[in-house]
Amino acid sequence: MAVSVAVVGMGPLGLIALKILKEDGFDVSGFEKRSWVGGLWKQSYDSTLSVTERTVFNSSRFRSAISDYPFSDAIDDFPTARQIWQYMESYCDNFGLRPHIRLNAEVKTFSRVQDKWAVEYVQDGSMSTGFFDKLMISPGTFVIPRSPKLKDIAKFEGDVLHALNFPNPSRFQGQNVLLVGFRATAQDLVVELAPYAKKVYIAHRNGLLLVSRYAADGKAYDQAQSVSFMFIQLFMEKWFPNLWGSFLDKIFARMSKKSFPHQPDEWGLTPAPSVATTPPLIADAIYPHLKNGFAEPVWGVQEIIGPNTVKLIDGRVLDDINTIIYTTGYESAVTCAPKEYNPYPVADEPPLLFRNIFPLHSNPDVRNSLAFLGQGAFPFPGFVQFELVAMAISQIWQGRSHLPPLSQMRQWHRSHLAWRQSLAKRYNSMAYFVAVFLSAPDHMRWLDRTAGTGIFAHFSSPFSWRAWRFWWADPAFYRLCKNGLFSPAIWRLFDMGHGRKPWAGAKAQIIEDNRVAEARRQERLRAVEKEKLEGKQGGT
Ligand SMILES: Cc1cc2nc3c(=O)[nH]c(=O)nc-3n(C[C@H](O)[C@H](O)[C@H](O)COP(=O)(O)OP(=O)(O)OC[C@H]3O[C@@H](n4cnc5c(N)ncnc54)[C@H](O)[C@@H]3O)c2cc1C
Ligand SMILES: *[C@@H]1O[C@H](CO)[C@@H](O)[C@H](O)[C@H]1NC(C)=O
Repeated sequence: MAVSVAVVGMGPLGLIALKILKEDGFDVSGFEKRSWVGGLWKQSYDSTLSVTERTVFNSSRFRSAISDYPFSDAIDDFPTARQIWQYMESYCDNFGLRPHIRLNAEVKTFSRVQDKWAVEYVQDGSMSTGFFDKLMISPGTFVIPRSPKLKDIAKFEGDVLHALNFPNPSRFQGQNVLLVGFRATAQDLVVELAPYAKKVYIAHRNGLLLVSRYAADGKAYDQAQSVSFMFIQLFMEKWFPNLWGSFLDKIFARMSKKSFPHQPDEWGLTPAPSVATTPPLIADAIYPHLKNGFAEPVWGVQEIIGPNTVKLIDGRVLDDINTIIYTTGYESAVTCAPKEYNPYPVADEPPLLFRNIFPLHSNPDVRNSLAFLGQGAFPFPGFVQFELVAMAISQIWQGRSHLPPLSQMRQWHRSHLAWRQSLAKRYNSMAYFVAVFLSAPDHMRWLDRTAGTGIFAHFSSPFSWRAWRFWWADPAFYRLCKNGLFSPAIWRLFDMGHGRKPWAGAKAQIIEDNRVAEARRQERLRAVEKEKLEGKQGGT
């Protein structure tokens, strides 16, 4: 009989895991407390996190698709939230996942009963328990809203809310709004508020690097990372992290100035924290609002000094603020996990998990049957990162890849903490170095090997027999994979004997992805050229 698996949460991670496990022969059941799949990508005003109406995905369509489920032609270079949600819905149908999913079913808790996981859930008002061999928890990473304690906030008479509870923006008609915290969410809210509010201030303490969606050559910014370039990155990050960090910071600072020339010193954006600890903001959506003065970055809040008056660290006083919104992000938590299996025994600390996935539990049956998704991240665009985690878990649960003994799992966790501490020592701003961040050079190699995707085996060294054989079979295609677009389908190309299923369409898709990216680049260059020309004509 097939091994049964429950997957809790049908956002992108849960859906992708459900598909991969189903394909690998598991008997899968998905649980989702809301009435749709795709998680936060459907805009909603419920109390669980979602995107806003106009959120745009922060990496390009060329890099972000699921490895065996390409985006349709209709998808923008940078997909809208709605397009991502619809993509998830169609993924669900395309791979026949829907019959395996219970909607409106919230998992309340789980426990170990004999050699099964007992999953207690409420569906349409009634409580039930299901029993499963394996359990995968993917309820989203961003769970507990983080709200700073502003001094004397009680004096404030306007509304104070967290971005999680952002209502229909028409409510802010004619208001002055203060956002506390400057990251992606602040950008999303500025865009939402623009048609209604009078002015938005964005208080921040750390500076921020603003970068553009497109490079000067017309390519999306994330196209700069080819497979070869990724291996250079991983090598440098591993062996020369300081040098590499300051090199990247210089390049990014220059790119930022070039794309967004109007960044006055008073905004306090530079010096921005290093990209080694803080991902840059893809800022195309907010920049026009910054430039025309609708949104203004200001210093952090010192205290509230009147019913509508806020004093900033630099002494400036904002005396007509109607609403304060915290855009300070979220803490990770797994609220349905009972104490024994809670990966966050200490709030805000990195999860107590091997590879940010498997519990460091004394019972080997628990270690081999419980997995957490979404508690680990490193800078790599799109959905492939999520797929690799699900593939790795599936291989381990099939007995084709293996977890090390508990002592080695603990050793990994200690060295992971040491890595974080070394970064904290080197960089003074760790404000956005969230609990789930992992070291890319170490983690990618592990994922690639455990999932059986064969990327390191074929590309990390030109001297491996696999690299050589691949080159020999089709040198032009080998070069396209290595130096062309890093298409997500590359992760589905190789059959390593063990590992996730390859996709027969991968090669054709890689070629097609390169063609589409180049066609769109040309189109974009022509559009930019045309704009310039019209600009000149307008000026005369
Ligand atoms: C505002 C915002 C913008 C982002 N933008 C990007 C981006 O541009 N690019 C990018 O790569 N990443 C982005 N991310 C990261 C984002 O986390 C991932 O893209 C992805 O959506 C995560 O998927 P998920 O399945 O882990 O979480 P979610 O999409 O949050 O889905 C989790 C699901 O689990 C359900 N659930 C939770 N608890 C239970 C329970 N107990 N029982 C049953 N169901 C439960 C929830 O209802 C939800 O549907 C963004 C995140 C945020 C918050
Ligand atoms: C995209 O957004 C996610 C979630 O907010 C973040 O973790 C990631 O670093 C962002 N990527 C870039 C390149 O900004």
